Amino acid sequence: MYLDETETALAGLTARHQTRGVVLDDASAGEAVTRLMHEYSFGITEIRTKLDILRAEFLMLHDYNPIEHISSRLKSMPSVLEKLDRKGLPVDEEHIRAAVTDVAGLRVVCSFRSDVYAVAQMLSDQADVTVLRVRDYIERPKPIGYRSLHLLVEVPVFLSRGVVPVTAEIQLRTAAMDFWASLEHKIMYKYRGDIPADVLADLHASALAVDRLDRQMHDLHQRVHADGEVGVAASATA
Ligand code: GTP
Ligand code: MG
Repeated sequence: MYLDETETALAGLTARHQTRGVVLDDASAGEAVTRLMHEYSFGITEIRTKLDILRAEFLMLHDYNPIEHISSRLKSMPSVLEKLDRKGLPVDEEHIRAAVTDVAGLRVVCSFRSDVYAVAQMLSDQADVTVLRVRDYIERPKPIGYRSLHLLVEVPVFLSRGVVPVTAEIQLRTAAMDFWASLEHKIMYKYRGDIPADVLADLHASALAVDRLDRQMHDLHQRVHADGEVGVAASATA
């Protein structure tokens, strides 16, 4: 599966590097970037497996599933090049590693806020997961109203030639936050970032409604399962 994804991501490489005449005209630099992209896709596979195991084990032990769904994507080569361009950086392995931290991206959608934090904690606690950065846009939402917990992590990937550290960005959010973020993304796209004031105000109001709904749903869930037998918050912190 990851190989298909890598092929798609790499599809933009050849065409773009012919027109740009940058470092990638050097075949060995191109090979290094191709190898790096494969490493990112292996990193996605590693982290997906970790999340799949947590989900399955939780379901088995507690008859409760803290993860609604997981999606992942390998940033396309044109997007990687565009980001380097935007930052005025040359196209090579070193600068991709340092400046494009979201080549490997995963999104974990949970039912409740407490699940978001519990899943992030369970993952962060694993011995081979190094948390490089945490951005908590749930506690401190972006001005437009965006909420999500972002973890930048590093995991080891074992290859035939040895072990390589791979960085990935994991976004964890509730289903309600995810609903809001995908609508906001579409609106941003439609208006190319220049959103009319009334739409912006409504978007902001709906972000507050999402937050209220998340809190109500969480409280309801806690009340119904007050015996502590169901739910990550009760199980993981008991
Ligand atoms: P880039 O935005 O990718 O350049 O990274 P950054 O270093 O600024 O990190 P940030 O945490 O701001 O955003 C990383 C990712 O989170 C983005 O690529 C989006 O997928 C998501 N994200 C951040 N802010 C928003 C937002 O306001 N709305 C939506 N829909 N998604 C967002
Ligand atoms: Mg950003």
